Amino acid sequence: MDPERILAIENAHDSGQFNKKVPILKGKGAMLFGQDGRAYIDCVGGHGVSVIGYAHPRITKAVCDYLRADRPIACGHFYDESRAELIQRLVDAMPAGSGLSRVFFCNSGTESVEAALKFAMKYKKHVKDKEIIGFKRAFHGRTLGALAITFEPRYRQDFVLIPGVKHASYNDLDSVKALLNDNTVCVILELIQGEQGVYPADPQFVRALRELCTQKDVPLVFDEIQTGFGRTGRLFCLEHYGVAPDILCLAKGIAAGIPMGATIATSKIMGAVDTGSHGTTFGGNPFACAVAVENLNIFRDEGLLDNATKVSAYLFPALEQLRQKYPAIKEIRGKGLMVGIQFKGKVAEVVKRMQERGVLVLVAGMTVVRLLPPLVITLEQAKQVVEALDAVLGEMQE
Ligand SMILES: Cc1ncc(COP(=O)(O)O)c(C=O)c1O
Repeated sequence: MDPERILAIENAHDSGQFNKKVPILKGKGAMLFGQDGRAYIDCVGGHGVSVIGYAHPRITKAVCDYLRADRPIACGHFYDESRAELIQRLVDAMPAGSGLSRVFFCNSGTESVEAALKFAMKYKKHVKDKEIIGFKRAFHGRTLGALAITFEPRYRQDFVLIPGVKHASYNDLDSVKALLNDNTVCVILELIQGEQGVYPADPQFVRALRELCTQKDVPLVFDEIQTGFGRTGRLFCLEHYGVAPDILCLAKGIAAGIPMGATIATSKIMGAVDTGSHGTTFGGNPFACAVAVENLNIFRDEGLLDNATKVSAYLFPALEQLRQKYPAIKEIRGKGLMVGIQFKGKVAEVVKRMQERGVLVLVAGMTVVRLLPPLVITLEQAKQVVEALDAVLGEMQE
């Protein structure tokens, strides 16, 4: 279809909820190719979904093999080989001794968070006026439960949200202690807050929070929807911290772009959730599970985590040099290939000019440029990203 026509239809009839960029035709590795033939280095990564890169031949083969074998794309809740294998692989990937051994599949990040909240509420079913502790600057999704713990007022206004949510200050244990009481059913934390600016949690804080939640028998939930599946250079970000939650929320990079989320809980918590009290039609469908298994095989075989760590080791010092060169940059934050470049002012113009130079980047809030490239991004491509930013900031400074 003519690019002009694509824009015309989407602009006229799409819900209008999204700030779209260029019409994209296809992708390969860390590159996206526009309908107009232009090539872009993709540091948006489908909002962090595309961890193994675009058009991975093993995913193409897995999808084709699956369909050629007449296996069902979606097929109710029968036992299934692909689902069983995925469950086993995920449980095996959980930290030793964590007890994270029960998996609920859904179709998105926000659903994974909804499930976590409901499981925690069931675990604390005897508590009448249930309360949840989230954090300032948190983002957990857009459905009415997840949105209630999301902090940004702009996303929340005009909606009726679940009651009982309190927001503690990030990295501040005293602030959690001040809010935690006998009504608290869970504490939910992103190990790196992504959407509002890429803020990593302090390891001491995470360890102390773990201890507090254990002491009070309050489920601790980690939302690794953005940080999971290699984004920070380890399969899960919790590995950097050596701390396990009672419930873990996953989505984005789990199934090579096929919609899927997962909520993994301890058997103690899942044991309190009576059968049928939560559910989903599409969650855990065999097709998505088969793709997710191949996604994990790619992680196992292709050194993605090593590449993410190698590119990250180049990227952070290179960006730090830009910070020293340009007063417009205030701070560089993040881990692995989850990078936040904090500016002193608004970044919309930087984003636009980067795109003109063939690099697609995200924002996080108004003043942070966020990079979430596929983990297969090469050093050469990462250098081009830094060079493009250098050039953009140079011309904007003039
Ligand atoms: C930390 C975190 N939690 C939850 C979500 C919501 O995921 P989804 O958009 O798949 O519903 C996101 C999405 O960006 C996220 O970054």
